[in-house]
Parts: sequence; C-alpha cells; structure tokens
Amino acid sequence: MGSMTVYGGQPLRGSVKISGAKNAALPILAASLLSSERVILRNIPDLTDVQTMIEILRAVGSAVSFKDGCVEIEPPLSPNTSVPYELVRKMRASFNVLGPLAATYGDAVVSLPGGCSIGVRPVNYHITGLESLGFKIDIVHGFVRASLKKKKKEVVISLPFPSVGATEHIMTAAAVMKDLHTVIENAAAEPEVEDLGNFLNAMGCRVIGAGTRHIEIFGTRELLPCDYTIIPDRIEAGTYAVAAAATRGHVEISNVEVKHLSAFTNVLKETGTTLEIVKPRTIIVSMKDRPANVRVTVEPYPGFPTDLQPQMIAFLSISQGTSVVTETVFKMRFHHVDELKRMGANIELTNGTAIIQGVSKLSGADVNATDLRAAAALVIAGLMAEGKTVVHDVDQIFRGYEKIMEKLSALGAEISYEG
Ligand code: EPZ
Repeated sequence: MGSMTVYGGQPLRGSVKISGAKNAALPILAASLLSSERVILRNIPDLTDVQTMIEILRAVGSAVSFKDGCVEIEPPLSPNTSVPYELVRKMRASFNVLGPLAATYGDAVVSLPGGCSIGVRPVNYHITGLESLGFKIDIVHGFVRASLKKKKKEVVISLPFPSVGATEHIMTAAAVMKDLHTVIENAAAEPEVEDLGNFLNAMGCRVIGAGTRHIEIFGTRELLPCDYTIIPDRIEAGTYAVAAAATRGHVEISNVEVKHLSAFTNVLKETGTTLEIVKPRTIIVSMKDRPANVRVTVEPYPGFPTDLQPQMIAFLSISQGTSVVTETVFKMRFHHVDELKRMGANIELTNGTAIIQGVSKLSGADVNATDLRAAAALVIAGLMAEGKTVVHDVDQIFRGYEKIMEKLSALGAEISYEG
C-alpha cells in the first residue's frame, strides 16, 4: 500500500496549478452513460478513482480514451447493465451508475457499496429517490437491481440530508425520464453538483437550480454530442493552501475558483494566514507564525467542507491556544487524530468534536493513513514536523491528488515514495 517519507521543517515556496475536480469528474463520467452520442470531457484529473470509473464505463461497453486530461467516450453498442462487484468495491461513487443505466436501458444491477473508514455511508437516500422516480428496487445478495416500472408525470423528492451522491444520482436518472418533472428539495449545493447540472444541460437535458437547495429536472430523451470542461478541484486547492500555511511558506495557487472556497478561506484568514487574490483564478497563501486558535464547524456546502477537516486539524495542532473543530457530515471522520497524537498533537475527541490544545511543534513519526484526506493531513503534518515522518498505507492519496509528488517537490518539500 506504499509509504511516503517526509522530512519536515521546509517552508513550501513556489507555485502549484490545481487539477480538475475529482468529485465533479466522477458523477459526470457516470452521467455520460445516458448519452447515445459522443461525449468529450476536458480538465479530467489522472487519478486512480477516475481510472476506476473509466474501467466501469468500459465494462458497460463504452469505448473510452483518456489522454492529457481529455476523455472521449463513445456509447456502448450493446450495453452490459450489470457492474462487477470488484469495481464497485474499489470506489463508492461507482454506485451512481445504477440510475443512469436503469433510466437509459430500463434495467440495471450494481453491487451495494461497502463502508469505509470515514463512516458507514448508507445509500438509503439514493434508493428511496430512485423508487420515487418510478424504479422498482430489489436488493439481493449485496446487489441492487433497479428496473423502470411506473411512468410518472410529477415527482417531488425531499432529501432528509443534502446528500451530494443522492442529489447527483437522482438528477442523473431523472434527466432522461421523458415527460417527468422532478423536483429535489433540500438538495446538496456543492459546486460539483452544479457542474454536473451544467454538464447534463450541455448534453441537451433540462436541469434548473443545480448548485442550490432546490433543483428541477424536465426529463428528455433527445441528447446531443457534447464537449465539456469540468471545474477545478477546490479540495486539492484547499489542501495546498493548508500545506503552505502550516509550513509558514509562500505559495501561489493557480487555476482555482476562489468563490468555491469562501467558508474555508474565511477560517484560514482567522488563523492569521494571508490570502491574496492576485488574478481571477490565482491566490497567494503565506504565513509567518503558528496559527491563531479558531472554532470550525464542518457543514454541507456552502459551509466548511468535510474534505478539508483532517488537513485543518493537522494545521491547528500547532495553534496558539485551544481550537475546536466540529464535524457534522461524517461524525466518525477522526481516524487521523490518533495518528497526529503520535506526532505530539494534543487533541481530545468528544461526540463529533475535536478539542485541540495547540503545541509548539509536531515531531516526526511513523503514521498510518486511513483514507484519502487523512493521508493528505498526515503528509501536511510531516511537512510541519521536526524530523522524519513515514506515512504508511499512503497509496489512497493518489485517489484524489494528481501528481502530488511532483507538485510538492516543486514547492521544496523533502519527500519520497516507496511502492
Ligand atoms: C461526497 O460523498 C464526496 N464524494 C465526499 O468526498 C464528500 O466528503 C461528501 O460528498 C460530503 O461532501 C464524491 O463526491 C465522490 P453524502 P457522498 O452523500 O456523496 C449520509 C473525498 O474525500 N447519507 O453527501 O458519499 C452519509 O452517511 C470524498 O473526496 C445517508 O445517510 O456524501 C453522510 O453522513 C470523501 N444516506 C452524509 O449523508 C445516503 O443515502 C453526507 O453524505 C447518503 C448519504
């Protein structure tokens, strides 16, 4: 599972260009299954999760090429609408091919995704959403079959929680259900949901309000060939911003949509970090001292993103005073805390909240990554710490950070990888 060795103490300096957003690429690749026309996608990051989704499209029968950030997809001539377990097991987001396959071909089978280290991660909102659209859902031996049973005219789906995956899954299936008007209330409003809505419209669908809590979809079967460029990755951008601040460096971050990161940049400024917007999609992050202590509450967008919570906790482990981070999206997402404590952090967990007594510095140690963002947090902790840190089980980091070794080395990080 690979390990990264990091020698801490070097401030990161220089510039880094942000890649396309993993969490926009995955639902958009799944949605490409709706089309009987060619789909071209640009700014697609070369990540293991993207490779997995491309494997799934090929397993369904699509012809897919991927070169220099550009994915070209030709639709399947004779689709295979049951997705093998070993692919879904690798990545939860693959469950979202169920809706588009069943809506396009009438019937599909996909295995239930497993849990993962950040939580149980049920798909009940996905299933009740698809049932509301008129699908019959059977769950047998860990597989979910969806088959189109009832033609409806009007559906209103009110999500108990603004789930990103459930919102995207329902939007994608509803987009091709001819003559069906679907309303999603309490929808997730993340920029990646908005990007999916823009992609569906580029294919000739009619989606209104993607990126807000209220989305309306008017189903259609007339889709067009399309050529679509996805948004930059706000979580990658936030990760490098934290790394710059945590190492008291000075880093220019380009190709970033600053408006996608407002809640995060507000917190970063509260810590005393300087953020300067030098061009429309370029910021400079610099920091000279330990961060001031802050209170952070993770919330669905537009709140502080859960995918930057581990990185922020690593940074705040050296805050001047006591910082508090409350997680409301994945309440168990604190496995990185035990590892940070091995490096000298002083953090207590109580009921979904981390109480961080800032220490003057971390010390390098052997640590274990439990998920993609925990891996990023531990690499940042290694960059901040005195001495050598080895992050074990680190390969998960390549699921979400394109060319991370090259990008960090170019910023002056003393880092190496052993497979
Ligand atoms: C997406 O996961 C992202 N993944 C996650 O990023 C991100 O952390 C998460 O949204 C929240 O922003 C992708 O987009 C591929 P949710 P998703 O459905 O869709 C509960 C990363 O590191 N829930 O918004 O799985 C769920 O348990 C990954 O890039 C149900 O109870 O997240 C959680 O508590 C990690 N039933 C909450 O909702 C359901 O049917 C939010 O989950 C669905 C979700």
